[in-house]
Amino acid sequence: MTAMTAMTAMTADTAERYEAVFDAAVAADERIEPRDWMPEAYRATLVRQMAQHAHSEIIGMQPEANWITRAPSLRRKAILMAKVQDEAGHGLYLYSAAETLGTSREELLDKLHAGRQRYSSIFNYPTLTWADVGAIGWLVDGAAITNQVPLCRCSYGPYARAMVRICKEESFHQRQGFELLLALSRGTPAQHEMAQDAVDRWWWPSLMMFGPPDDESSHSAQSMAWKIKRHSNDELRRRFVDICVPQARALGLTLPDPEIRWNEERGHHDFGPIDWTEFQEVLKGNGPCNEERLTQRRRAHEEGAWVREAAAAHAEKHRTTPPARTGHGAPQEATA
Ligand SMILES: [Fe+2]
Ligand SMILES: [Fe+2]
Repeated sequence: MTAMTAMTAMTADTAERYEAVFDAAVAADERIEPRDWMPEAYRATLVRQMAQHAHSEIIGMQPEANWITRAPSLRRKAILMAKVQDEAGHGLYLYSAAETLGTSREELLDKLHAGRQRYSSIFNYPTLTWADVGAIGWLVDGAAITNQVPLCRCSYGPYARAMVRICKEESFHQRQGFELLLALSRGTPAQHEMAQDAVDRWWWPSLMMFGPPDDESSHSAQSMAWKIKRHSNDELRRRFVDICVPQARALGLTLPDPEIRWNEERGHHDFGPIDWTEFQEVLKGNGPCNEERLTQRRRAHEEGAWVREAAAAHAEKHRTTPPARTGHGAPQEATA
């Protein structure tokens, strides 16, 4: 036996034992932490999912930031700015959480910019009117919460903990969207019509945010077994429709699906078929704004280069500068 094969055999044996410990931890609903052994496929799945999530947060800033300068009042502008800023923060938590898996933010951003990692397709739709800000908050952030609340119990510790704070902020986003739409819906006929039009355009893409139907979802089963995912795409989509129907009624708006009706037997609403060809097209890069979003992202990254350089220089200076002395000549270290 060569040294190499001996090592491989030993590694295989050790890996088996580690895998058993990992499986037991997942089965017992314990959290997997960065220093714990984990299967490579589990790590790769998390990196892919967390990167896609982080990218969606920062690309998602674009459609709404488009309306900051045109917000109809100071109050609305302040709310929208806070919301868009929150999304940047969500991106930062998630890139940091992904870095605990051995990747780097730089690497992930490079992949996003090269089109090798995805972000949520929903952000490839344009924001045509002010009411879109309301529809995004109500429907897009609403769908995000439905998807993300179960992630607070995800088996990977850093991801689960990042989601707790993110979900609290998303719930503010959803409420501000609802409140904005309510104000428009109760406003002039033109405002009401604008709100209805925005809901008509955002409804179906929001349902697509839950991903393909369960029988076509390639990653779902394994992610559920690893407890990264807790509910199937269709299950979450159903839950979202059930939440939205009474809320639409409260808003005085209709959902653009004549087939929505309560199904007593199933205890859920039935709804019409989703146009998955549209979803596939947007996914392939043929959505209305794919090109625009990536171009803007790359430009923002290039234009921000000086900020990254300055921050790195500042950190380096603090690393190499000896501690400042107090007024009496004693080194701070000695007095602290
Ligand atoms: Fe977010
Ligand atoms: Fe949000």
